[in-house]
Amino acid sequence: MFDRRGYPTVSARDGYDAWAATYDGSVLDLMDLRLLARVGCVAWSGVARAADLACGTGRTGAWLRGRGVGSIDGVDIAPGMLALAEARGVHATLREADIRESGLAGGGYGLVVCSLADEHLPELGPLYAEAARLATAGGWFVLVGYHPYFVMDGMPTHYHTATGEAVAIETYVHLLADHVGAARAHGWRLEELHEGVVDDAWVAAKPKWGSKRGRPISFAAVWARA
Ligand SMILES: C[S@@+](CC[C@H](N)C(=O)[O-])C[C@H]1O[C@@H](n2cnc3c(N)ncnc32)[C@H](O)[C@@H]1O
Repeated sequence: MFDRRGYPTVSARDGYDAWAATYDGSVLDLMDLRLLARVGCVAWSGVARAADLACGTGRTGAWLRGRGVGSIDGVDIAPGMLALAEARGVHATLREADIRESGLAGGGYGLVVCSLADEHLPELGPLYAEAARLATAGGWFVLVGYHPYFVMDGMPTHYHTATGEAVAIETYVHLLADHVGAARAHGWRLEELHEGVVDDAWVAAKPKWGSKRGRPISFAAVWARA
């Protein structure tokens, strides 16, 4: 509906498998890690166990470990991304599974994280339900997302093949109100919300994005068990 690019579109599993080798070189820390650094209410070093949903190549896990999170279990649907996470070595365990049905044991995680994956889900409810199942009483759910306003501007998540062809990965728009509704339905209360915009640092890294200056590109929501 919002896609203005018209690239061929593949599933998340196929797309990230194909993108895996070049993924780390194409995602900017400004997109997600900069927002995680703004989170104030989570005492990262006090978290004994975290679930890293959509762990990808382990970028998020490495950031969390660097902040003192004790032990992290990673889940992802794309074997190619998981192989790179395995090589990075920051997770205690890694498993190939869907983030809506991770297979991890319930009730044991003081922190559940999902970074840059919710836009690939047609519905948010199952993700918030799974995060609620995994979290301890008093646990946190930190979700970093590709900003819906940016997706609505016409650019689905996409990557370039070795021959330079652009390929989109199935992308859905979830308004921030959709997040609040789905989260509240599964016992989460919004504690913090941060939005990242295309600013000077972005344009310095991606000069072609000058025309997008000031637009929100990503967000981080911190949910507490209600
Ligand atoms: C943009 S990457 C983010 C990876 C990592 N969190 C980071 O920030 O670098 C999105 C990841 O979500 C995974 N993914 C997408 N849909 C998924 C699903 N339904 N279940 C499990 N993993 C999924 C992809 O395989 C990919 O590794």
